[in-house]
Amino acid sequence: MLNALTVKVEMDGDVAWVTIDNPPVNATSQSVRQGLVDSVAEVQGARVAILRCRGKTFIAGGDMSEFDAPPVEPHLPDVIRMIEDSPVPFIALMHGNVLGGGFEVAMGCAWRIAAPGTGFGLPEVNVGLIPGAGGTQRLPRLIGMEAAIDIACKGRVVKADEMLKLGGIDRVAKDPEAAVREFITALPARPGSVSRRSVPAFEPELLEESKATLLKNAKGQKSPLENLKALTWALEPFETGQPKERARFVELKAAPESRALRHVFFAERAVAKPEAIKGAVPRELSSIAVVGGGLMGAGISAAALAAGLSVTLIERDSAAAQNAHDRVADLLRAAVQRDKMSNQGMDSALEAFRAVDDYAVASDADLAIEAVFEDLDVKRDVFARLAEVMDSNAILATNTSYIDPQDIFDGIANPERCIGLHFFSPAHIMKLLEIVKMPRTSPEVLATGFALGKRLRKVGVLSGICDGFIGNRMLTAYRREADYLLADGATPSQVDAAMRGFGMSMGPYEVQDLTGLQIAWANRKRNAASRDRNERYVTIADQLCEMGRLGQREGKGWYRYEPGNRKPQRDPDVEALIESCSAEQGITRRTFTDDEITGRLLAVLANEGARIVEEGIAERAADVDMVQIHGYGFPRWRGGPMHYAKEIGWDVSRKVMNLVAEESPGSWILAREKAPV
Ligand code: NAI
Repeated sequence: MLNALTVKVEMDGDVAWVTIDNPPVNATSQSVRQGLVDSVAEVQGARVAILRCRGKTFIAGGDMSEFDAPPVEPHLPDVIRMIEDSPVPFIALMHGNVLGGGFEVAMGCAWRIAAPGTGFGLPEVNVGLIPGAGGTQRLPRLIGMEAAIDIACKGRVVKADEMLKLGGIDRVAKDPEAAVREFITALPARPGSVSRRSVPAFEPELLEESKATLLKNAKGQKSPLENLKALTWALEPFETGQPKERARFVELKAAPESRALRHVFFAERAVAKPEAIKGAVPRELSSIAVVGGGLMGAGISAAALAAGLSVTLIERDSAAAQNAHDRVADLLRAAVQRDKMSNQGMDSALEAFRAVDDYAVASDADLAIEAVFEDLDVKRDVFARLAEVMDSNAILATNTSYIDPQDIFDGIANPERCIGLHFFSPAHIMKLLEIVKMPRTSPEVLATGFALGKRLRKVGVLSGICDGFIGNRMLTAYRREADYLLADGATPSQVDAAMRGFGMSMGPYEVQDLTGLQIAWANRKRNAASRDRNERYVTIADQLCEMGRLGQREGKGWYRYEPGNRKPQRDPDVEALIESCSAEQGITRRTFTDDEITGRLLAVLANEGARIVEEGIAERAADVDMVQIHGYGFPRWRGGPMHYAKEIGWDVSRKVMNLVAEESPGSWILAREKAPV
């Protein structure tokens, strides 16, 4: 019987040991729920029952693979109620993570004992949900409303020591099993069930203040506020609050936000295992070389040092090497200030770091990442010099944004060791890493790229070769359509506000002002000769650049900026320039609603993403979503542009794209009719 495998009861005198064994994380799947029901019956007659889990963790959540199907009995709220009402009291003996359904089960027990470092949380909010088995009803009763808001609405994981102080657990013990044996020798009086307590008094303004903060930070995501609302039901009797929580959980599970966030959850795991590295074993890396210590090279070095790698940074001359050293040290100091690194961590990182102007110093590195100027000859020269001093098998990686890596590595011996590692700025913070495969890159080298990405806490996404790889190619399409909208009647502030309203962290024009307009300008100039003459070309951005309006740093770009203030202000000069561009091209300007703007820009993203999948540049549509979410500020709770197109219907997205293509003939290549997967 399956249940016999997942939950086992063993009697030791008058003590019942109930052990869950459901690898990898002892999720509350159907067999565990049934096993718990059976065990409540089996332990009757004992003096006390101890609930524990095998493996590396206590129950660390629900089984999300069951979420798309209708719920199957027994339901978790009923199981927990049985544990709570059992005449034989249960003690939860916990280690690892006690999350979601696991925390809910633990709160149904009479006592809770945990190993040091055990993490407690209700991460349902991160997948668009509220807890569905009494989590929002028992938690405020157990630890008070303020701490419950932190955990349920913000998804914060609280460690055992803090949970003990909050009163959520009874004991933290190095050897929890020994502690529980001692605890049961003289069992204290059984405390009242958590569900029958009332929520301790809290400041009257707490709920309103929390609502305002959550609303501000949610950027359109609903689940933080849903959790807050559910917590307030704990002020009612459990008998009315808990059914409300359950009903809302079931509704939210079927709603778009949770579907999108669950898609992202699974996509993040799938993206790390592309077909192209199946069976390949990554190489061990201990020291790397970074060539070029500018904006990107410094960020990459800081990320690698934080991950415990030794880094040799190579610059053009000793002054540039000193500058690069200072830049990296500043980044590490800032990490300490943000509490991302300890002082001791910074000291050992600095010990593992050197910045030099001599390539020979990097001869023993396992891998080199080049981040010098975006210039083919400079990059080719760097790799020729690296190839001379490094082992003939050492991995060579380029961080180029747009140059074809095949041109960069042309002529290098052992081309199977060459790869693109495309980081995003700021490289020590941004999660995305595009791992670029060339036709001859070996699976082992690719797998090493993925392992490095993981070590640097990045989301690695495999990309083939095309202009801009996955992300910047989509960005080019997105910006092109945004410029068409400007020429046809919209304003930068309207486009930005519409996209922010959709949930993007910033609109396309604010982003350009923040990062500077010059790189894209240089790119347009570089591509001018090869541009398709039938393509509609809008010159507004070029004109801004020619006027020296290069973005925030110059105090003006698509917007103007007051000195010392980063808030974009609408600029009548820019709007007049846009209008005159429209007039010159004989365009009668018209109005666009926010929905028309977001509809068009999202259709363009989905179309370009579909083409990228069709061409085999990305392995799957979900990979495209990961690039957009982790590199371009696409709202996680919308699931990415490909998931969003699927959600509204691929045919609906196609219809908008057809309209976009009709409005700007010669500018767009349409993806195939079939939705990409
Ligand atoms: P940067 O201009 O800030 O830094 C380049 C550095 O390379 C300078 O410090 C320069 O002294 C050094 N350098 C130049 N030639 C060298 C040589 N022969 N040997 C050693 N060092 C040399 O440029 P940034 O922004 O860091 O970009 C570097 C690369 O990263 C470019 O290929 C760029 O396309 C790519 N990239 C840039 C992103 C960005 O947002 N800036 C994002 C992703 C990739």
